Amino acid sequence: MRLESDFLVLGSGIAGLTFALKAAETGRVSIVTKAERMEGATRYAQGGIASVFSEDDSFESHIKDTLDAGAGLCTQSAVEITVREGPDRVRELIALGVPFSRRESAISGPLLLDERETNPGKLFDLTKEGGHRARRILHASDFTGQAIEDTLLRAVEGHPNIAIYEHHIAIDLITNVTIARARRPNTRHIPDQRRALGAYVLDAREQRIHTFAAPVVVLATGGAGKVYQYTTNPSTATGDGIAMAYRAGARVANMEFMQFHPTCLFHPLAKSFLISEALRGEGGELVDRFGHAFMKKHHPMGSLAPRDIVARAIDSEMKRTGAECVYLDMSSQEPEFLKKRFPNIYDQCLKFGIDLTLQPIPVVPAAHYLCGGVYTDQWGESSIENLFAIGETACTGLHGANRLASNSLLEGVVYADRALRCTLERRDTSPGALRTQQPEMPEHLPEWDSGGAVPMEERINIDHTWRELRTLMWNYVGIVRTDRRLQKAKARLELIRHEIQEYYWHYLLTADLIELRNIMTIADLIVESALLRQESRGLHYNLDHPNRDDRFFKRDTVL
Ligand code: FAD
Ligand code: SIN
Repeated sequence: MRLESDFLVLGSGIAGLTFALKAAETGRVSIVTKAERMEGATRYAQGGIASVFSEDDSFESHIKDTLDAGAGLCTQSAVEITVREGPDRVRELIALGVPFSRRESAISGPLLLDERETNPGKLFDLTKEGGHRARRILHASDFTGQAIEDTLLRAVEGHPNIAIYEHHIAIDLITNVTIARARRPNTRHIPDQRRALGAYVLDAREQRIHTFAAPVVVLATGGAGKVYQYTTNPSTATGDGIAMAYRAGARVANMEFMQFHPTCLFHPLAKSFLISEALRGEGGELVDRFGHAFMKKHHPMGSLAPRDIVARAIDSEMKRTGAECVYLDMSSQEPEFLKKRFPNIYDQCLKFGIDLTLQPIPVVPAAHYLCGGVYTDQWGESSIENLFAIGETACTGLHGANRLASNSLLEGVVYADRALRCTLERRDTSPGALRTQQPEMPEHLPEWDSGGAVPMEERINIDHTWRELRTLMWNYVGIVRTDRRLQKAKARLELIRHEIQEYYWHYLLTADLIELRNIMTIADLIVESALLRQESRGLHYNLDHPNRDDRFFKRDTVL
């Protein structure tokens, strides 16, 4: 079946929903999302959204903190854009009704519109996280992501111009090259400028593949934490958008920079539960099993040092002492404050028998955020025309070699807005207003061809390969890398790739198989990029090249 719209949005997290909501004012929007609509990293965000709202803060300070965390690799213009446009985008979230926590003194009484607009810094409780020199993070207790996701979904659901397709997983993008190849399978003539025209999508419940056609395609498919054995990410984070864009010929950058969050709850029954950095912002101290604080040895900012440094310090403490985890000690704060400020984390820990008001929380680092992704310009457009990438799927240049905490929700809303503005400018037919004429959609798009594929009888193959790949990435391509480990990973991935290609051509597609193929591509891109960067910088730390080398490597790794 062919489904048409003006905008095809893949993903329903903060980036996809923000774009869809704005785009729906000008045309029909299809949102394709592979699980339940609220599922994705956004709903699990705890700490908050960073933006300059206080009189004690400034754009310059937020810009400097972002650049410092990014270890010399941020694109200055991306940082300036995000920081300076951030407050307006956050105000839009407030206007939509996101219930950001307010200061004690501002809690009573309804929020007046002019108060929201003129002096939000005085109204909202601003918290702090690693690498931030000022309190600039708006949060909704420790449920920030859920509050944002719920609010955006409520707005999107009532909109007559938006259709949401749940349990629909995008398989591959459709471009003008797809058409050229369908016409002449052996053609060597590939159009110079690639152009997005839609995507093939599997309805995972009906097991049918549809053609979604649209002149503007937006990848908002989130990150790829699932490529590692231990991660804070939900199961949707399999890097699908990046893998699809790469296969379609888009440029992808900085894939070696996977951020490991220092504090994931360590408990055999806790599946990837994050212990927010905001706890350290409110006085939490990282300690070893004897209760000794160890972070000052590693960085003058101690437990609130940038994330790459804290994660590596924990990794090194664990390796040095043979301990399975380290601890986060919250004893500097009153129990009543902790229960009120972190109700979600308090309850979750209690479920596992840990009362954080009485005892330190056992924590370990885990894969958390992918700084690399689909390489975009300052409007969120990829190297394929009319293919935009926004949110965690994108590499806009904001994060450089290491993301500053709570900058990603912000990036999601800022670039969703910019991507839409770019498409609208192109549609504007008034003289001189156009950058590029909006292309016509071709009448005919080739249907998906399943060839002679047959149903897979045994899932065990997929499960086994999936586990093997994630363990391999954790062991050989983790927080601390060496050339030898990376080479080993490359050789093993080669074998796994052949196996997956075989499944892919032989069996009818399922969501699992699509994700496995994508995670394989992501693993390849990470290893390839890590091998190319023969230095240590930000999140990429290689024992064989322990120093930063600005002479040769102060540049993006573009594949
Ligand atoms: P997501 O919210 O991940 O949404 C991706 C969407 O794409 C999902 O709907 C998914 O189902 C869909 N999708 C994926 N593949 C396909 C496909 N093939 N076809 C169709 N649909 C697809 N950042 C902050 O700034 N502040 C925080 O406090 C914070 N806390 C975090 C806590 C946790 C536990 C985690 C995991 C991350 C946190 N982050 C935080 C990072 C931040 O949450 C994410 O980077 C951000 O939410 C990403 O938003 P997104 O819209 O790009 O993607
Ligand atoms: C956290 O709450 O520690 C996560 C914040 C982030 O990833 O930006």
